[in-house]
Amino acid sequence: MPSGVLEEQATEPETDDPLVWTRDHTPLLQSFAEEFGREQPFDGLTVAVASHLETKTGVLIETLRAAGAEVLFAPSEPQSTHGDVVRFLDAQEGYEAFAHEGMTDEEFEEAQHALLEREPDIVLDDGCELIAKAHDAHPDIARRVLAGGEQTTAGITRLEAMDREDVLEFPVYGVNDTPMKHFFDNVHGTGESALANVMITTNAMIAGKTAVVAGYGYVGRGVASKLRSLGAETVVTEVDPRRALQAHMDGHRVASMAEAAPEGDLFLTATGSRDIVREEHFAAMASGAKLANAGHFDVEIVVEDLAAMADRTSEPKEGVTRYHLPDGRHIDLLAEGRLVNLTGPYSQGHPAEVIDMTFAMMFMAAYDLSKRHEELEPGLYSVPDRVDREVAERKLATLGADIDESTDSQQAYVEDWRHGDSNF
Ligand code: NAI
Repeated sequence: MPSGVLEEQATEPETDDPLVWTRDHTPLLQSFAEEFGREQPFDGLTVAVASHLETKTGVLIETLRAAGAEVLFAPSEPQSTHGDVVRFLDAQEGYEAFAHEGMTDEEFEEAQHALLEREPDIVLDDGCELIAKAHDAHPDIARRVLAGGEQTTAGITRLEAMDREDVLEFPVYGVNDTPMKHFFDNVHGTGESALANVMITTNAMIAGKTAVVAGYGYVGRGVASKLRSLGAETVVTEVDPRRALQAHMDGHRVASMAEAAPEGDLFLTATGSRDIVREEHFAAMASGAKLANAGHFDVEIVVEDLAAMADRTSEPKEGVTRYHLPDGRHIDLLAEGRLVNLTGPYSQGHPAEVIDMTFAMMFMAAYDLSKRHEELEPGLYSVPDRVDREVAERKLATLGADIDESTDSQQAYVEDWRHGDSNF
């Protein structure tokens, strides 16, 4: 090819818009922007979004704005914010950011309070950060919120506690608990993105290693199955005997953390609880053991214990803190024990295709509640199955995949408990 042609075709950065690639990989949200952009269902409403402020959340925020909302947004984790996304949206009309990259824990808390003081109508939350703070510190504002949605397991746990105490001031949809969210995002999204980040941060082999996964819920199951498919020997720790049996029958070894601690090369926590890997476990680990957390809060690996046991720390690689123990061993902690798939130096969070479904559900939760919040008492609600099904149908359509429809005789069969002329 003559050199002139090559010069003409030389690639250039397409644009300084950080959302270009993610828009390409979120067909559901793009279809919503088009369809609801015509309908403008959120016209006159202020929608607050707390989430990891990277490109996928950027596209959700953009889609809500396209559907007429004024959008306020804050992070749900202090370290997962991508500054380019925040600056890009904040510079445009109809958006207000309560975030910047590299926030301290104090700035993170203050930003969420500042957002709430702007009195949003609808709150789309992650980890129940905004909803809990609204009820705790701004009860008058909480009383005026119309409705909310929650995207992760840790947030549902907090909302269930609020619901038990009967303190919720508005209806909230538990989006995490829909099949369209946790069957895919928790299992495959976290499974792939957590491992991608462990691998890129450590540049270490997975094949042939002993990998210990704490918690065999949706996230743990995804992480463990992907570890095994890469050739690791997997060990699962649990507190629920049924989940432990499920892990066993899925082919993983089940053990207590005390038993697994000396054996593991890599530890990944995914319980949604706290103090999972602690002093007695660090004391038993082999030198060079690597630890990462995929659970929502940074309390699963007890970093304070590790710090107290160590003589000193070093950073052998970006994103890895090495704790040097007095007996000569060292233990490597990734992303400071925060969400490894979202807060490490290389983290990009889940693949966009899977978050397309999660955020389609968050969008539809807000849409559905904007229409029916008045008929619902305050409390935690399941998202109606019709919403979940509709999002699934739309996603399948974007994949070009057809499914069968029940025939009349099949429908009649499942609805008739006598099964016609059977010999009862
Ligand atoms: P889940 O409730 O399905 O599973 C948690 C499992 O941990 C349960 O089986 C439970 O019995 C087990 N467990 C609880 N305490 C334990 C202990 N002391 N030792 C061992 N196992 C224990 O929850 P899911 O959906 O798997 O979520 C887990 C965590 O991951 C939550 O904090 C959730 O918010 C978070 N999450 C993180 C994502 C990410 O991007 N990293 C994405 C989705 C969820």
